[in-house]
Amino acid sequence: MKKPFLIVILFSVLFTAVSCIKSDSTPSLSSSLTSVQGIEKKVNELLDRMTLEEKVGQMNQYVGFWDLTGPAPDSGDAAEKYEHLRNGYVGSMLNVRGVENVRGVQKIAVEESRLGIPLIIGFDVIHGYETISPIPLAESASWDLEAIRKSSEVAAEEAAAAGINWTFAPMVDITRDARWGRVMEGAGEDPYLGSKIAKARVLGFQGTDLSQHTTIAACAKHFAGYGFSESGREYNTVDVGTSTLNNMIFPPFQATVDAGVRTFMNAFNVLNGIPATGNKYLQRDVLKGKWAFDGFVVTDWGSIDEMTSHGLAKDGKEAAMIAANAGSDMDMESHLYVKELAGLVREGKVKESFIDDAVKRILKVKFELGLFEDPYKYCDEVREKEVIGQQAFHEAALDLAKKSIVLLKNDNQLLPLKKQGQKIALIGALAADKNSPLGNWRIAAKDHSAVSVLEGMQAYKENKLTYAKGADVSIGYTAFTAQVQINTSDKSEFPQAIEAAKSADVVVMVLGEIGYQSGEGRSRTKLGLPGVQQELLEAVYKVNKNIVLVLNNGRPLVLNWHHENLPAIVEAWQLGTQSGNAIAQVLYGDYNPSGKLPMSFPRAVGQVPIYYNYKNTGRPTGAPGVFWSHYEDEENSPLYPFGYGLSYTSFEYSNLKTSVVSEKEVQVSVTLKNSGKQTGKEVVQLYIRDHFASVTRPVRELKGFELVSLVPNESQEISFTLTEKELGFYDNNGNFILESGDFSIFVGGDSNANLQSTITL
Ligand code: BGC
Repeated sequence: MKKPFLIVILFSVLFTAVSCIKSDSTPSLSSSLTSVQGIEKKVNELLDRMTLEEKVGQMNQYVGFWDLTGPAPDSGDAAEKYEHLRNGYVGSMLNVRGVENVRGVQKIAVEESRLGIPLIIGFDVIHGYETISPIPLAESASWDLEAIRKSSEVAAEEAAAAGINWTFAPMVDITRDARWGRVMEGAGEDPYLGSKIAKARVLGFQGTDLSQHTTIAACAKHFAGYGFSESGREYNTVDVGTSTLNNMIFPPFQATVDAGVRTFMNAFNVLNGIPATGNKYLQRDVLKGKWAFDGFVVTDWGSIDEMTSHGLAKDGKEAAMIAANAGSDMDMESHLYVKELAGLVREGKVKESFIDDAVKRILKVKFELGLFEDPYKYCDEVREKEVIGQQAFHEAALDLAKKSIVLLKNDNQLLPLKKQGQKIALIGALAADKNSPLGNWRIAAKDHSAVSVLEGMQAYKENKLTYAKGADVSIGYTAFTAQVQINTSDKSEFPQAIEAAKSADVVVMVLGEIGYQSGEGRSRTKLGLPGVQQELLEAVYKVNKNIVLVLNNGRPLVLNWHHENLPAIVEAWQLGTQSGNAIAQVLYGDYNPSGKLPMSFPRAVGQVPIYYNYKNTGRPTGAPGVFWSHYEDEENSPLYPFGYGLSYTSFEYSNLKTSVVSEKEVQVSVTLKNSGKQTGKEVVQLYIRDHFASVTRPVRELKGFELVSLVPNESQEISFTLTEKELGFYDNNGNFILESGDFSIFVGGDSNANLQSTITL
């Protein structure tokens, strides 16, 4: 998709002209309007002054022309958008960033429109603004809620300094299918871990006081079911049952509501044949009804219009009617609310009370952000310069990058590497890549601004390091185009890599996916190493088997050959700005890895979707013959289970004790010992199995975890309390219930934890 350059210029010129004519004058709606108690009153007063068109205008969100994150619309050129801003027909803009640009659009809305209602400025601050943290899937592998909260706090502070006051994050979709490109953007396959992380992210972005200039409104997305796109194909049909919806998909969303998230985004997919954007059950009944969410819902990009392609609405007008009636409060880039809604109200097809409700929700968040007090509160050029890229932000990014790394295999303690006297061959295009570690959602980051593995390892000067690319990773991608042609079968640089490996004591191979190979619109049917990387790996292996494979990737990959043949494997995802430093520090043992997988790694693509919290089926185990639930050609289990990850030290679990305190409370304790030789951290995980229930329950469900740091030989007793919340589940009417009966409790270092006790409630 090409950026419409002429329009960009026209639009920019218009802003500049406006900025020159007018200086910062007091907005038409000022005074101390942010006190919580007064907000509702002020919202109502303002609403009373608004025409129907102005109300509908608040429900309209336009993209600026700088960063397209979806298909560019046919209609609505810059001149029209400018006109609409002046008329008060725009409530929000997205992808306008940088103080100068934000001030430009805000000035028009505030100083030229009749009521001067400020815009809320949205942007995809997913895992950092300019200083990039690990991709969310990687962050989730840290299981470190405080570090994750901190990462969102930093992202908010940087984005806020660039004029942004609303992020389209966190993405809390549960994802089980590694083929889907957006698994990189969420917290993985588990609703319990996903809920905790969702909460941490909301608290990080929003802080405790939204009116601060360092905090921004968060947005839980994509409501709901998007992570279950059939066959992992982007935007595909979703078909999930009630039990999965209530127990797997909803909980992280509900956790964000409980944490006070101010906005929601709906989704591109259908649920029970109704696109999420037109889905009253999701938006009015569940979200705004049952969960009493009092913020507003923005549609996903153009998703109102897409309801015609889905085959739900015959045209844009009908789509706008369905979306508004279903509870979609703000139209992102369909241009249909601004075009159709007022007419639909006059025709009696949409109740004005629905419009009023939507507008009140939107205005409320604007008041909470303090935008009426000072619409330019996020527009401070000095702060922008001082805050963005601060050293402290890089330190937080490095901290979380190290915590996100998962050690998958380490035979004969090949890792950590010796710091002196070693010849190390570093191989792979990704080892020198300064762009891919930034991942896919990094629009505001400077290109090629990450520390590469090569740079990270060069800091350890007392070894001899030789670098050889070997081969390019794959077809190249850029942010918004499908593919950039590069030669993906070129093996001409294999010989240099093989030569470097021959004389090396250890070979470190950095292989995987480039940054734009996962993310939106980047589904894959193959989960191996793209391009000729596998061939390169096997060619190097022939001359030197002492290989540490460092993976850079945005999704689980199939690693059977690697697991069977290589002594050491490090899952290093896409770790953001500080990637290379984090990887080098782990490889050299300056940081002892503690990450645990937030998604199962399959043995074959054919197993996907694969997840640890599956149902037992009626034929779970191998009776003689073929008639049981299995594959003819592969095991059922994943290669690396959910929750799995090694350390340079070892841990022993013992002394599992359970006691039933009441019919709604169980106490659990276990002893963890560091039985190795280094200080290390372990994520102690507690799983339950509810053996018999009125709706069948998964074979295991994570219901508690704790990150514990121990010095060698140190032991600690870890305790968990299981209450109704952990022991119960949602029935098929959406009611949360706790049923008496037998439960198994498992505690250990991954989802195969085998220390077990059974209790009866
Ligand atoms: C994505 C959203 C994103 C929006 C705005 C859409 O294509 O699905 O997650 O927030 O674009 O960039």
